[in-house]
Amino acid sequence: MIVFKRMSALLLAGVTIMAAAGCGSGGGDTTASAGGADDGKITMGFAQVGAESGWRTANTKSIQESAKAAGIELKFSDAQQKQENQIKAIRSYIQQKVDVIAFSPVVESGWDNVLKEAQTAKIPVILTDRAVDSADTSLYKTFLGSDFVEEGRKAGKWLVEEYKDSTDTVNIVELQGTTGSAPANDRKAGFAEVIGAESKFKVIASQTGDFTRAKGKEVMEAFLKSNPDIDVLYAHNDDMGLGAIEAIEGAGKVPGKDIKIITVDAVKDGMQALADGKINFIVECSPILGPQLMDLAKKVVAGEQVPARVLTEETTFTPEQAKAALPTRPY
Ligand code: AHR
Repeated sequence: MIVFKRMSALLLAGVTIMAAAGCGSGGGDTTASAGGADDGKITMGFAQVGAESGWRTANTKSIQESAKAAGIELKFSDAQQKQENQIKAIRSYIQQKVDVIAFSPVVESGWDNVLKEAQTAKIPVILTDRAVDSADTSLYKTFLGSDFVEEGRKAGKWLVEEYKDSTDTVNIVELQGTTGSAPANDRKAGFAEVIGAESKFKVIASQTGDFTRAKGKEVMEAFLKSNPDIDVLYAHNDDMGLGAIEAIEGAGKVPGKDIKIITVDAVKDGMQALADGKINFIVECSPILGPQLMDLAKKVVAGEQVPARVLTEETTFTPEQAKAALPTRPY
């Protein structure tokens, strides 16, 4: 009897562990979403890029808080800026039969296989923040995020206006985001498109700083050593710009004056540097994608139509505007 009771308890424990891990014998689910939201609760698997910047920290917080508020169970993973880790996480969400998968692809290419696996498993996928370059757009339901090309254009337009009365050459160095990522590719392209109309603007050095403060500092130190006449720094995010400010000060120059600085994001630390005159202009990129993502997730799980592209509303900031916005800036 005791033996029988112990065996029953073990069997029950095994079933509980499998259920908690979302395992199942699987096979042949034909509903719009395979996750079986039959308990009425939606489970989302979210594969985050990493924790490389202030923007990313705010984005993660937005997603976690919004999932809680929307009553969505969130399975969250941090890929540490590695595509293979994101692919592993997505495969594990497929195995666990979540109701919906959302992710911010670290780079643009190389997603077709894993997206096809999700499609075969009938699990809808939502892209958030960054895009993929897959030709088959049926592999995901929608893409929620910023227009990164437009962000680059806004940075370029500020520069053109700032130097409109000058005929001298303007030497620019560029700190690019993660190589192969949508924001790095697009912010570079949008900026180049605008400044390319005037030959006085010259990008004399352009290298990745991987969206981190430490890399931004390191690359800027190298730029300063090999280029004595830098007029402008264009950094694809605030964090790299903030690292570069340390390098500029370390080289005995005054950021914002000796070298004008344009960045993207508008997180608190960047906005403070802008208010202090160390950065000259910031193009906003909003990390608060959580509430819209949860709304979209509920719709796609219910089999409703959603727009193929959902754009984030964004602005730009001068030092005066940063001073006014800082006291109520939420991130
Ligand atoms: O994809 C958005 C970008 O990723 C942000 O601009 C940058 O700070 C982050 O790392």
